[in-house]
Amino acid sequence: MLRLGIVGSGGMGSSHAHGTNLAAPRCSLAWVADVDGARAGQLADEVGCRAITDWTAGLDDVDAVTICTPHHLHAPQTIAALRAGKHVMVEKPMAMNEAECREMIRVADECDRRLMVAYTMRFRPAPARLKELLVEGSYGPPFKVSAWTQGFLDPAGRIRHWAARRDQLGGGVLFSHGCHYIDLIQWYLDSLPTKVAMVGTRRGTDWLEGEGTAHAVLEFPDGVLASYDCSWGMRHAVLDGIHIHCPEALLVSNYTTIDVVRGREREEIFPPPGPGETPPGWATLGEINHFLDCIERGQTPLTDGREGLKSLQTIWQLYEQSGWDGR
Ligand SMILES: NC(=O)c1ccc[n+]([C@@H]2O[C@H](COP(=O)([O-])OP(=O)(O)OC[C@H]3O[C@@H](n4cnc5c(N)ncnc54)[C@H](O)[C@@H]3O)[C@@H](O)[C@H]2O)c1
Repeated sequence: MLRLGIVGSGGMGSSHAHGTNLAAPRCSLAWVADVDGARAGQLADEVGCRAITDWTAGLDDVDAVTICTPHHLHAPQTIAALRAGKHVMVEKPMAMNEAECREMIRVADECDRRLMVAYTMRFRPAPARLKELLVEGSYGPPFKVSAWTQGFLDPAGRIRHWAARRDQLGGGVLFSHGCHYIDLIQWYLDSLPTKVAMVGTRRGTDWLEGEGTAHAVLEFPDGVLASYDCSWGMRHAVLDGIHIHCPEALLVSNYTTIDVVRGREREEIFPPPGPGETPPGWATLGEINHFLDCIERGQTPLTDGREGLKSLQTIWQLYEQSGWDGR
């Protein structure tokens, strides 16, 4: 049975800890760690494992670690865990810059350990089914994808919080949250963009050093287009989902359901989860099971370091080509 440790006991650490328990008995959760001992202790009580404040002190007791810390810590913690012989799942975005990502990939190869980026959306039931539908090809090849995540983060308590600082977050909403959706778009279209452009603003998210609202447009080979609209400042919003336009139908998903739209007809082909089907940790269960499969079988994760880097490269290109400097 594989033993796991979770580094960082905040929001995502909690989700991974619960998800790891859901994946039991094929794995067990040895500890949760946090520099904030009270936070680790509270989560440990909730999920029934040990709490530690120095995660490196728990390395002897685990086969793998899941890194759920601020972004500037992803590369150093991942590399230290790999060098200690542990497999690593690291939360998105993989790291702060390309050099860090490449070093993580190099060390994973050198140490022959699995390195997976936690692009959870790829492993959730509805987004994964969407990919299968596109591969099956019944609706024809997609020619336009539109995606939105119009959210609101309460500014209370965020001033100087790591998630407000560019030197710890690494960018703005497009980098931190948008990487999920740029990754999904590139996966669904099975290609990388040839041309990109974006606009971003801090209006509505003064607490954040990077952009809090962004609109990105991407051109893929053969004239295929995509757009992605994201925000952490939209207190009032209704758009959260993805539309995939194919010649034979429009596929509409809010990431838990899938509808097929043809003209005025709309059919739900993937229903939402029923009562009791989304316990704490359900959103990370798919990726945790995939990580465990890859460790057990010695296989490369679907979202390994090389794959995890691709969406970030697009986002860095978007920032660079738009001249976006975060002001
Ligand atoms: N996949 C998703 O949907 C999703 C959603 C939210 C966040 N995330 C990602 O998860 C990661 C963590 O985000 P969060 O929202 O849980 O943040 P958070 O602030 O809630 O938690 C981070 C925790 O890390 C702890 N920490 C800081 N330095 C540490 C160290 N050296 N050792 C151990 N613990 C340390 C902090 O004390 C804090 O408790 C980020 O990469 C973020 O982008 C992913």
